[in-house]
Amino acid sequence: MKFLVINGPNLNRLGLREPAIYGSKTLTDLEMDLLAFGEIEQIEVTCFQSNHEGDIIDAIHEAEDQFDGIVLNPGAFTHYSYAIRDAIASVSFPVIEVHISNVHAREEFRHTSVTAPVTIGQIIGLGFKGYELAMLALKERVGGIQR
Ligand code: DQA
Repeated sequence: MKFLVINGPNLNRLGLREPAIYGSKTLTDLEMDLLAFGEIEQIEVTCFQSNHEGDIIDAIHEAEDQFDGIVLNPGAFTHYSYAIRDAIASVSFPVIEVHISNVHAREEFRHTSVTAPVTIGQIIGLGFKGYELAMLALKERVGGIQR
């Protein structure tokens, strides 16, 4: 089973960015943890981060032939990118949305996700753990289908 983990804008700043909200660990720490978790769970994990909407859209499209599912943290694009929403809707594999922080306990504009309706679900506010939980849920969803 192969999953792509996509982190959107400003998530390359993890560890430096608002540590009281996002913690002190870096994106590299997160990606290393996810690769190690993948080995334990027998999931091939590929990680990608971009600050650019079009690059995220391209990554979602290109994943169609290569991956069984995506764990996606769209960052602030969550709240307004209809283009990312349409990209998710255009692919046939499952996508789970993850947010490190509890967006519902934050500013009003973070309470809306335009991308969530085309994902199979969201995991919110559980820190880095949310990505692992998303992979477990995807693994169960994808079941025996191997690539
Ligand atoms: C975030 C929440 C978004 O509102 C914010 O813009 C981010 C990170 C999260 O993981 O908590 O960049 O997606």
